[in-house]
Amino acid sequence: MPPFRAAALPDLPPGAMLPAVLNGREIVLCNHNGSIHALDGLCPHRNGPLAQGNFLDGRLICPWHAWEFHCDTGCYDYNSAIQLQRFPVSIHDGEIYVDIADNDA
Ligand code: FES
Repeated sequence: MPPFRAAALPDLPPGAMLPAVLNGREIVLCNHNGSIHALDGLCPHRNGPLAQGNFLDGRLICPWHAWEFHCDTGCYDYNSAIQLQRFPVSIHDGEIYVDIADNDA
């Protein structure tokens, strides 16, 4: 399966996050200090929509019960065994592509 176009790079400036649905899968995109990340968009606690939460200092904060996950690792702050899946990201011609067939980038 080829990577999916997820967003235009100018729509995701540093400190921002965006939701995307790729081939029926909810993901969240974020820009942490110029690095683009793509992670599972549903919280492993109770499937909260992470892209509707906050993004602060590289951490995705779930809107439902405030679990926090670092975008570099996908790890939950209080138990690193609980992780969001991470997906490889590539940038071509100002567009962000995500390979959802290859997780844990
Ligand atoms: S559903 Fe995300 S913290 Fe509970």
